[in-house]
Amino acid sequence: MRLPPPLVARRWLLLVLALWSLAAGAAGPGRAAIATAHPAATAAGLEVLEQGGNAFDAAVAISAALAVVEPFSSGLGGGGFWLLYRASDDRTVMVDGRERAPLAATPTLYLDADGQFDARRSQDGPLAAAIPGQPAALVHLARHYGRLPLATSLKPAIRLAREGFAVGPRYALMAGYRFPALLASPEARRIFLAAGIAPLPDWTLRQRDLADTLQTLADHGHEGFYDGAVARRLVEGVRAAGGIWTQEDLASYQVIEREPITSTYRGMRVTSASPPSSGGVVLTEALNILAGVDLSAMSPATRIHWITEAMRRAYADRARYLGDPDSVSMPLTRLLDPAYGAQLRQSIDPLLATPSVPLEANDPLKPSLDRHTTHFSVIDAEGNRVAATLSINTPFGSGFVAPGTGVVLNNEMDDFAAAPGQANAYGLVGGSANAIAPGKRPLSSMTPTFLEQGDRLAILGTPGGSRIISMVLLASLAFADSADASAMVALPRYHHQYLPDILFFEAKAFDSETVKRLTALGHRVERVSRDYGDMQAVTWNRRTGELSAASDPRGEGQARLQLQARRPASEAASAP
Ligand code: DON
Repeated sequence: MRLPPPLVARRWLLLVLALWSLAAGAAGPGRAAIATAHPAATAAGLEVLEQGGNAFDAAVAISAALAVVEPFSSGLGGGGFWLLYRASDDRTVMVDGRERAPLAATPTLYLDADGQFDARRSQDGPLAAAIPGQPAALVHLARHYGRLPLATSLKPAIRLAREGFAVGPRYALMAGYRFPALLASPEARRIFLAAGIAPLPDWTLRQRDLADTLQTLADHGHEGFYDGAVARRLVEGVRAAGGIWTQEDLASYQVIEREPITSTYRGMRVTSASPPSSGGVVLTEALNILAGVDLSAMSPATRIHWITEAMRRAYADRARYLGDPDSVSMPLTRLLDPAYGAQLRQSIDPLLATPSVPLEANDPLKPSLDRHTTHFSVIDAEGNRVAATLSINTPFGSGFVAPGTGVVLNNEMDDFAAAPGQANAYGLVGGSANAIAPGKRPLSSMTPTFLEQGDRLAILGTPGGSRIISMVLLASLAFADSADASAMVALPRYHHQYLPDILFFEAKAFDSETVKRLTALGHRVERVSRDYGDMQAVTWNRRTGELSAASDPRGEGQARLQLQARRPASEAASAP
């Protein structure tokens, strides 16, 4: 059949496009995989991929959707770290969208008249809120890495906010937990509570103001949030309720592209978050300590002892040295040096726990609700990757919503060391490196991570406050031992963070014999009341084509693979 010339040209174009996408797909799995903490966010990611978007567009859609469906975890009023890998130029970068202290913040902001730390002030209400980074990060991702307009990638979130969705048990739990803070903010009360009480599962949450704010961001980009009507409402609302934000705080906020922390553990390449997150540094230090011992040859209790002692030492350095790289100088070269890891290894007694000193002035970790903050992992057909951990800090952040914005403000100021040795919401202590200063970013534990071992690749991360890093460490060790995404997210967990000097464990992590042995080795062992974390992982084997995505069985998330494959591949997706 003869075709008219325009159709012939179109056929050629389609052929060229098909060949190009096959060639591009050769570097990637040929189809996408996504794991997020909520099915609607996973669906939002797939929706923009189907519209021709890449992993970075999907990351914008997922981040925005999570802001709507998990308003207790992350959102436009918070920040996070987006770890990116771009296949076309083999570029790895971390987009730092961490919140910044307001310019009027002072080191004594959360001390009362007697100089005592007042956790209510650093956790509840607008005084606890740092300047959000997520809106700027989404604009940055769309502009510099995405293929689709920001407005297209924000569409699913705007729809979810406007039309509403049925909340799950987790929402009900978090709203109940943060009930007093939500009640204290008339806007938060109106939006997130049902006639003044914590809603039950299946209640429909509609967020019209948030839909409008997202639409303004879609229409006007960065200025849509940091300038103009939204910025004005934010600053007026915050100041009227006792906060210290100014227009200048918002106008001067910028995301920063940073080099991730990279290291090698027994042949496995590790790429993770750099300061102002402590994640990559603590993870690398722990792995450097462990690289010189054969964990696979040890009994379970001995193995746990070694890993715990590695965690203890790495978290101790977190408390001593780490903070915002733009405000403090840190001995990173030394901390990340495998020789330093070897030195720390030599300080470990194989038969005895090393006490953490000093022990005073530290509350044990409070009972933690640990599935606020959120993580997602994405790979697209071409092999572009995103690991992103996003937060407004504790559930529903500060609990404060500025009138007319629909945006829940974070309480990330509590991630600073409000006073030397003073434990924060996660029991973490710190010193001057993480002291409050105007415009400074509080030290984070968020650890979005890529692992590469031979042909195998993993994209992972989780919420969980201070426990994030130990969860990623355990999952990384499991991946090095050939675990796939499902095994990594399901792994029983344990945690030590130097102070408090307690080895916390999930019920399934230690049997009674192991508890006995660890106690005999000098560890103070304590079972957590509830399992913790909400890990989202994707693994891919370039050689076999096996692609796997998994969402933590402890959470309500969902992992999915894109249906259409460009080339045959064996795959497995698991989602609880
Ligand atoms: O940046 C941090 O380290 C904390 N704001 C993260 C908080 C968190 O993961 C809470 N999750 N359970």
